[in-house]
Formats: sequence, C-alpha cells, structure tokens
Amino acid sequence: MRTLVTGGAGYIGSVIVEELLAAGHEPVVFDSFLKGHHDAVAPGVPVVEGDVTDTDHVRQAIRDHRIEAIIHMAALIEIGLSVKNPNRFFENNVVGSVSVIRAMIDTGVRRFVFSSTAAVYSDPERLPIQEDDPVVPTNPYGDSKLMVERILGWDAPTHGLVCTSLRYFNAAGASERNGEDHQPETHLIPLALRAVAEGTPLRLYGTDYPTPDGTTIRDYVHVRDLAQAHLLALGRDEIGLRVYNVGSGKGYSVREVIETTRAVTGKPLIVEEYPRRSGDQAATVASSERIRAELGWTPHFDDLTSVIESAWRWRQAHPHGYER
Ligand SMILES: NC(=O)c1ccc[n+]([C@@H]2O[C@H](COP(=O)([O-])OP(=O)(O)OC[C@H]3O[C@@H](n4cnc5c(N)ncnc54)[C@H](O)[C@@H]3O)[C@@H](O)[C@H]2O)c1
Repeated sequence: MRTLVTGGAGYIGSVIVEELLAAGHEPVVFDSFLKGHHDAVAPGVPVVEGDVTDTDHVRQAIRDHRIEAIIHMAALIEIGLSVKNPNRFFENNVVGSVSVIRAMIDTGVRRFVFSSTAAVYSDPERLPIQEDDPVVPTNPYGDSKLMVERILGWDAPTHGLVCTSLRYFNAAGASERNGEDHQPETHLIPLALRAVAEGTPLRLYGTDYPTPDGTTIRDYVHVRDLAQAHLLALGRDEIGLRVYNVGSGKGYSVREVIETTRAVTGKPLIVEEYPRRSGDQAATVASSERIRAELGWTPHFDDLTSVIESAWRWRQAHPHGYER
C-alpha cells in the first residue's frame, strides 16, 4: 500500500517506515524536520519536506505519490512544553491533524491511522487501563490527541473513512537502524543510557508513590512491536473510528529500569533523588486485549531487558545521536 507517513523522520515514524518497507508497502515520508532527522529515513524512501498545517502541500503530496493510506504521527510531544504553551500544541497537533484529514477527504483516501497516547486517560482508577476507561487528559498534549480522536469519531462515518487510533504507552527500544534521539530528551530509558555513557547522574523524580518501591510504574512497548500495530491497523476495513491501546501489558518501576540498565550495560548508573514532579501518574499499564483479539497483535520484545538492550546497542553505534 502506498502510505504517507507524516512525522516519518521522527523516532517512531522512522521505524514504522522500516517495517512498512520490510512488509512490501511503499512509504512516503512527510515531515517538517523540526524534530525529525534526515538520516533516520531509510534510503530510497521519497521525502516531502513540509508542514502538515499546509493543507495544499499535503493534498499535493497525496496526489503526486498516489497515496492510498495515511499514518499520521506528526506532532509535538513534550508534555512539559505543552503545559507552558498550550496553543502551540493545539495549532500543531489539532490544526495539523484537521489539515491532513481535510486533504485526505478531498483526495479520496479512506484509510487513516492516528498516533494517540496513554496521556488521554486520567489518573487510572484500575490497572491495566482499558480503552473504555475515563478519558480526562491532565495536560494539553493529551488533550490535543483526544480532540483529534473526537474529530475522527465524527468525520469517519460521515465521509466513509476507516480510522484507527492507536494509544501508545511508553515507546522504547530501537531497531538496528533507528533509535531514540529527541531534542530535548525527556524519556527515561535514553536518559538513563546517556547518564551511563557520560557518567552523569540520572534524576529520579518521586520515591514516595503508592507503588511497591515508591517510584512510578510505566508500560514500555518496543518500538518495533508498536510499528507492527500500524501495519495491522492498515489492514482494517470497517468504516468508523476504532481505538486501541498499544502497550506490553507489563509495568516496570523507575528503580527496575535503573537496575536493568545497570545489568544490561554492566556499568554504574548514578541516581539523584528529587521530589515528585507535578502531573506524573503513579502507574500506567495498558490492557492490550482489544488489539490482540481484534487485530491479532502480539508483542515480540515484551521484556524490559530486550528493550534496553536494543536501545543500548543503538546508542553505542550512535553515541551522539543522528547528524551530530
Ligand atoms: N514516544 C512516545 O513514547 C510516544 C507515546 C505516545 C504517543 N506518541 C506519539 O507518536 C508520534 C511520534 O512520536 P515520536 O516519539 O516519534 O516523536 P518525534 O518528535 O521523534 O517525531 C515527530 C515527528 O513529527 C514531525 N512534525 C512535528 N510537527 C510537524 C508538522 N507540523 N508538520 C510536519 N512534521 C511535523 C517532527 O519533525 C518529527 O519528525 C507523535 O504523534 C506522538 O504524540 C509517542
């Protein structure tokens, strides 16, 4: 399938492009390169450099490449920045998505896979979190994603679109070719590996959560397993919007990530403890029963050691990330 991958030069998008190629699809990357990396795009993949808020440009790219499906990942992702500057997130993530949806309706493309997030859920009352649990985002980033889901919920039946929203939990790990190089980096595993490599301390925020070891618990889904969920979503053909959690179903505390990082790298990791950060939830773990049952998704790298091993291999091969 000829698939437009917006945000395809970013961390997750670049791995999705790899997996699309491996499965015989024909991906086309549409990215502003505000956060993406040219070196992250697999050789030979067509690249359109542009902003998704420019509807004419998206329409043109769809026509030029005879696109049949869209995986829409282009977004700003830093939760802290979204709290400081909500409007920037709504303009980029919501207006950008409306623009892509408009372009797709105008050009007759019917398949749409959207990158949503666990940040749409409120502080969970029960674990694991299911898709029908309350959605009350606690930051503008999560709200920007929920708004797009709501828009898709109206547009899909009206325009006969097949829309899938994938609520990722914490994407982590690397493929052989592509890994995590956000600027700034806010995710625990790359920060822990950087601390190991540079001998600098890792900041641990909060040791008094109501969890077994007092630190927060998260569900780390390997980026290659996440990519496979997109390929399965492209195969859906039921008109309307269907929402799926994508997580490993296992929760690991920050202390467990720290210990596993020490074990995988065989090096010391210095930790500095700080008070809790506002807005951090104690524990988020996905129920992925729905995507397993309906789309046949099965994670293959669902233990923390293999996630961190792959990220460490990539970091050792790219000590300064991409292009630096
Ligand atoms: N990383 C995670 O753990 C995680 C968790 C949940 C959801 N997500 C979602 O997955 C998607 C990808 O995340 P990522 O970690 O790969 O982030 P990333 O920053 O590495 O990739 C995002 C890409 O989108 C591009 N982009 C942003 N705004 C754009 C615009 N207006 N026009 C064109 N391109 C634009 C950036 O240049 C970048 O290449 C995002 O939608 C994010 O919200 C990520």
